Formats: sequence, C-alpha cells, structure tokens
Amino acid sequence: MEFFKLRSGGRMPALGYGTFLATGIELEKSLNIALETGYRCFDTAVGYNNESIIGKVLNEWISAGKVTREELFVITKKMEEQVVNGRTKSIGLSNFNIKQIQRILDNCKIRPDSLQNENHLYFQAPEVVQFCKINDIVLISYSSLGMKSFRELMAISWNNKQLPEMLENDVLVKVAKKHGKTPAQALLRFINQNGMSVIPKSTTPERIVENFQIFDFKLDTKDMDALRNLDEGEGGRIVRFTMIKKFDAVGDEGLDVEFDELE
Ligand SMILES: NC(=O)c1ccc[n+]([C@@H]2O[C@H](COP(=O)([O-])OP(=O)(O)OC[C@H]3O[C@@H](n4cnc5c(N)ncnc54)[C@H](OP(=O)(O)O)[C@@H]3O)[C@@H](O)[C@H]2O)c1
Repeated sequence: MEFFKLRSGGRMPALGYGTFLATGIELEKSLNIALETGYRCFDTAVGYNNESIIGKVLNEWISAGKVTREELFVITKKMEEQVVNGRTKSIGLSNFNIKQIQRILDNCKIRPDSLQNENHLYFQAPEVVQFCKINDIVLISYSSLGMKSFRELMAISWNNKQLPEMLENDVLVKVAKKHGKTPAQALLRFINQNGMSVIPKSTTPERIVENFQIFDFKLDTKDMDALRNLDEGEGGRIVRFTMIKKFDAVGDEGLDVEFDELE
C-alpha cells in the first residue's frame, strides 16, 4: 500500500474502498472481502445510509483481533468541532472548487487536510490538482471508474458529451494491455500517479480484489501523457449541481447531500 502524508500528521492510504449505493447484506459481505483483501481505508457518509453496517463489520474485525483501530482510516463527512472534541483526527472538504477552498483556507480555525472531488479520465481538473499540491491538501478522487451504475440509475450521461464508456476507451485499453492490467487498474494507477488517492466502489468480489492490485506496476511518461490527453474538462463532468432535484426524487434512500457544494 502507498500512502499520502497529511499535513496535520498521520497518513492516508492511496487506495480505499468506496461504499456509495452499497448497503445491507451485500455491503456486509463486500466489506469482509475488502478487509480480507487488505483494504484499510473506507469511505462513507451519513447520506449513504450504511455507516452502521460499516461500523458493525469494522468492530467485528477489531474485536476478533484481526485489525486494530489504528490501522483503519475511515472517511466520513464531519466538521471542525469533531477535531476539537477528539472524535476525529483530521477534516477534509468535498465537492469544493478552488474559490471555495480558498475561502475555507482564509477563514478556518483548522485547515482541511484533504479534498474529495470527482476526478477521472474525462474530468481531470488539473488546476484543482495543482492547487491542492501547492496548499498541501491530499486530493481523493471519487467516481474514478466513471460511476457507471449510478449514471445508469439516474439516466445521466457526461456533461453534454458523447464519450465512449470510460473503461472501454481505446487509449486506456491499450495502456492497460501494455502493462498486463485491466482498464480499471490502469485508470486507478493513473489517478494515483497524478498524486491522488482513489476509493473505487465495488460489491463484486473479483473486482474488489482487482481494484486493490494497482501498486505492482508503474505507468511511464508516454502512458501518462496519452491518458492526460483524454481530459474533456467540464464536458467530462458527471456530477452536476442540477442533480440535487433528482436526488430528492430518490426519497427515503437518501442519496448523498454533499453534492450541494458544487460550483
Ligand atoms: N463526496 C462525494 O460527493 C462523493 C460522490 C460520489 C462518490 N463518492 C465516494 O466515492 C466512491 C467511488 O465512486 P462511485 O461509487 O461513484 O464510482 P466508481 O468507483 O467510479 O464506480 C463504481 C462502479 O464501477 C463498477 N466497478 C468497480 N470496479 C470495477 C472494475 N474493476 N471493473 C469494472 N467496473 C467496476 C462498480 O460495479 P460493482 O459494484 O457492481 O462491481 C460500480 O458500478 C463512492 O462509493 C463513495 O464512497 C463520494
């Protein structure tokens, strides 16, 4: 496992396990597979309605002596008071643009250590990546693999663009083949090598393992340049501010409300 150092101390695994749209017994089984595979970082949020399941499984692993709490890195969405009262070690932001991050940096009592934003092949946001580097903020890419099931569920596509399905993109497939890896592994590695942590979500046992095997190869400059060329800027964005109305329509399942910080 590789790690990113946090400016307030500690370190964040460069790979974690995403849990958006995963609940119930399927998530419980998947978390056990993820822990057995070696994942030690887990991403959740109140709006995912799955924190209690994650808490239950992690507690079982701790009680059984298979992991310690110190080995685990849990990302959820909380505030400054949680650091002050000792409930969390570090705080971060999510779905913030540069202007919004700067406003926080100018006004906060506790500096954010991390930023969790959409970032993938078609939406690479190099300015945000650079801004985070300069300001010592670890960037966590979400929807690194293109959020296929969510796009299908919500009947949405890229932002006004007709783009090939991300994991079927010819250039990505070629780079992956060159290294004897799958497109998902090559894409996660690409994002890692661009300086970001990744938190792919999967409830498919083989993919949970596949997504973990990304530290045994390295993309070269040619690969990195070819993949950087696939950035579509705003046209490649999937998650948009206007989606909030759609989330309301989902009702009791209560999809994530963090999106309201976009733009
Ligand atoms: N802060 C925020 O606002 C925010 C927003 C969105 C997401 N997130 C976090 O980021 C995590 C990841 O993002 P995401 O869930 O939107 O999308 P993602 O990880 O890009 O994609 C998940 C989808 O890809 C499939 N998949 C996973 N591994 C694969 C592989 N190796 N090959 C082919 N398909 C694969 C999964 O299917 P199966 O499960 O069927 O395998 C699932 O449909 C979330 O789970 C959540 O924790 C945060």
